[in-house]
Amino acid sequence: MTLTTLPAWTALGDHARTMADTPMRALFAADPQRFAKFSRRLGPLLIDYSKHRATAETLALLLKLAEAREVEKGRAAMFAGAHINTTENRAVLHVALRNLGGRAMKVDGVDVMPEVRETRARLKAFADDVRNGTRLGATGQKFRHIVNIGIGGSHLGPMFVADALKDFQRDDLSVAFVSNPDRAQLDEVLKDHDPAATLFTISSKTFTTAETTANANAARAWIVAALGEAAVTKHFAAVSTNLKGAAAFGIASDSVFPMWDWVGGRYSLWSAIGLPVIIACGPDAFERLLAGAEAMDKHFETAPAEENLPIVLALLGVWYTEFFNAPALAVLPYDHRLKLLPSHLQQVDMESNGKAVTLDGSPVASSGPIVFGGGGADSQHSFFQLLHQGPRLIPCDFIVALRGGDQASRELLLSNAFAQTEALMRGRHPSEVVGTADALKPHRSFAGNRPSTTILLDELTPESLGMLIALYEHKVFVQGLIWGINSFDQWGVELGKEMATSLLPAVRGERAPEGRDSSTAGLVAAYRATRR
Ligand code: F6P
Repeated sequence: MTLTTLPAWTALGDHARTMADTPMRALFAADPQRFAKFSRRLGPLLIDYSKHRATAETLALLLKLAEAREVEKGRAAMFAGAHINTTENRAVLHVALRNLGGRAMKVDGVDVMPEVRETRARLKAFADDVRNGTRLGATGQKFRHIVNIGIGGSHLGPMFVADALKDFQRDDLSVAFVSNPDRAQLDEVLKDHDPAATLFTISSKTFTTAETTANANAARAWIVAALGEAAVTKHFAAVSTNLKGAAAFGIASDSVFPMWDWVGGRYSLWSAIGLPVIIACGPDAFERLLAGAEAMDKHFETAPAEENLPIVLALLGVWYTEFFNAPALAVLPYDHRLKLLPSHLQQVDMESNGKAVTLDGSPVASSGPIVFGGGGADSQHSFFQLLHQGPRLIPCDFIVALRGGDQASRELLLSNAFAQTEALMRGRHPSEVVGTADALKPHRSFAGNRPSTTILLDELTPESLGMLIALYEHKVFVQGLIWGINSFDQWGVELGKEMATSLLPAVRGERAPEGRDSSTAGLVAAYRATRR
């Protein structure tokens, strides 16, 4: 049966018509215990999903959909190392990277844990040596700057985590992340760096990504110009599945760390892709991050579906995309240290579930939302207007830490975050708009009934951060199971890459842009005209 012909789907459709006319205000008025019933604590996380257009019946019907889509079977298949990434014939086992308990996790019958542990030990030793001055630059100087060169999952995840854990960084060891092939970014980072004290980590699962290759070669030239060719082995480390590519670049074998094809790029921050974090924030903080993710993995793997936070949040997301035509999800961290969370989750969610066909190649009934967001307080002064009064229903995730830093400013943050969720839920009826001319009342009314989830971290620690990221990873996976798509390939990025490669000679003026549409040819011509 296809998704939309399932009895569970039909029942949800009928129920949605009822819920469409049921204000969340009424749900709260009818049940003083609503928050208690629709919130759940898991370690340092408290997740409030009471401000949703859902009742116990809604969740029961959604859980029946999960059952009909065999979500728990799909979950078991992932943990068992099955090749659930069917189009690339690969397992999906990023959970092995944070399997600190060490139980066997097998891919094609082989327990991957020994190699995972051995690599993690190598990463720790390398990071310790850089941090304590055992590993020095070509002139004998300690490293004071780490510069990661990567893009996508080799950039967004580690950059987000390094920024979120900035409190663990040392003053004498900076970390920067370069991804843009616009040389302005690399130049901006290196302008006040001493080559003799700079270590580059080249992060690329394939070691063939054009943007990363361009930046890596520029960084190499910068080091060679300052310190000579022999310095390359001292000033570069690499993380890749392509060990030959890293060796060809001139990186010493003891500075090359493996990745595996059963780890997707957007799920790889837990792997050696985390090297810049391990160096900058320390191996202990990174291990605590892994422990947090492991705690969420255990919850996801074992909790009954009705109490399973990734499953519940996944189902609520599907509820809105399917039955309320919600086009997007807004991710709103009200904590400066989590400001890069939306950009990381954009890749985790949209590169996973932005798909047009199901596992068997037939057109999807539906798939992933547009994920956007930004720092909560700033966003209140940019796109919240649309969230409150736009014609589309856009569910929002509010993420706040209850403790940390200056308490007065935190209380201001918390009051804004909590009040925004209430305003989105309650709205303001025209009859409640006072002190204004009748003609203005429609303009100053709020439909309300805009759902939100609030994720409270007791405080932002490596553990709670690890739990938070893993929560979203598993939520995305469950949604993919419901939609019947492969959340772990990314064929959609290939066409643009191929066309860019074939167009580059024309842009460089080495040949005419033959066979291109008049727009592309016209754009190339406009550039070429500037070169004459
Ligand atoms: O965006 C496509 C993609 O393959 C991502 O999935 C990946 O994280 C990124 O490019 C970088 O790939 P690599 O780590 O192989 O350089």
